[in-house]
Amino acid sequence: MYNTLKITRPDDWHLHLRDGDMLKGILPETTRHFGRAIIMPNLVPPVITSNDAKRYRERILAACPHGTDFKPLMTLYLTDKTDPNDVALAFSDGLINAVKYYPAGATTNSDSGVTNIKNVMPVLEKMAEIGLTLCIHGEVTDPDIDIFDREAVFIDRVLNPLRISLPELKTTSEHITTKNGVDYVKSQSKNHAASITTHHLIINRNHLLVGGIKPHYYCLPVAKREEHRLAVRNAATSGDSRFFLGTDSAPHTDPNKESGCGCAGCFTATNTMSLLAHVFDEDDALENLEKFTSLNGPKHYGLKPNNGTIVLEKSDEPVQFPEKIHTNDGPVTVFNPGQEIFWKVKKT
Ligand code: DOR
Ligand code: ZN
Repeated sequence: MYNTLKITRPDDWHLHLRDGDMLKGILPETTRHFGRAIIMPNLVPPVITSNDAKRYRERILAACPHGTDFKPLMTLYLTDKTDPNDVALAFSDGLINAVKYYPAGATTNSDSGVTNIKNVMPVLEKMAEIGLTLCIHGEVTDPDIDIFDREAVFIDRVLNPLRISLPELKTTSEHITTKNGVDYVKSQSKNHAASITTHHLIINRNHLLVGGIKPHYYCLPVAKREEHRLAVRNAATSGDSRFFLGTDSAPHTDPNKESGCGCAGCFTATNTMSLLAHVFDEDDALENLEKFTSLNGPKHYGLKPNNGTIVLEKSDEPVQFPEKIHTNDGPVTVFNPGQEIFWKVKKT
């Protein structure tokens, strides 16, 4: 039985930092524990060109608390008009670590996303050639497809055909939420892996909807039924190197969440490491926590693990997390797991 656990400093392979006051307000929640994070490009307007990414990176570094050596790993937002040469140059300059594929209309600020994968094949072929990873929001947006089936249908209609036609392209299925997503990753022997969020290990669709709608549990992909949560949780805690942490921590102010048409996103940056220690402890898998948070991700992205370590400690009393992070943009509610958590990050 562990009561303390020292692990390599973790990374977050899928993070929304936004911009301006929101960026300043929420960035310390990530830099406190994480060494690096893949930064999502779905700003308004999106981060489309290498020049956009360069300037966004500078704004992130300027917003970092003093004394932190956090490294933002930048991504470009793939559009029907993305220039393969701009992408290749950004990668060879060390400016970007991945390109993000949003099907148009799939989620927050995805209107400029890809309307048909055929339109971006020249970019994807170039990426396969140079070894640049494609991060995929894997949901179809066809209005005829039930929202709970969007991920499974995407695998059949888009992901699998893409992997067959371009097996050398390194791909990440982001924030997988279904047994279908897990099984697909397991069926692929190389160049494919998946990130998993903290919240999808904890909530299913009942948590979202039973006893009243919980806007702070609404995210995309939407939480699925319990059998899917368990499949995703088994994948995360298994130690299999094809699964790693991507929190998808996505801040929205309370008025934007608690609304007649609320935004999608769970904000988990503050308590993610505590929640993961709790989940892995519950599943008798604490020995695999470091693989999930700190080793499997760098392996997939061709990077070394971080140098530093963090220490997690299980205390006798439940840990109190802030209910909200107060930013100059407004309050952001921290994800509430709905159960007592005894693990805390003791030192970094
Ligand atoms: O829940 C989500 N929030 N899912 C996404 O794909 C986007 C994100 C956001 O940007 O708020
Ligand atoms: Zn996201």
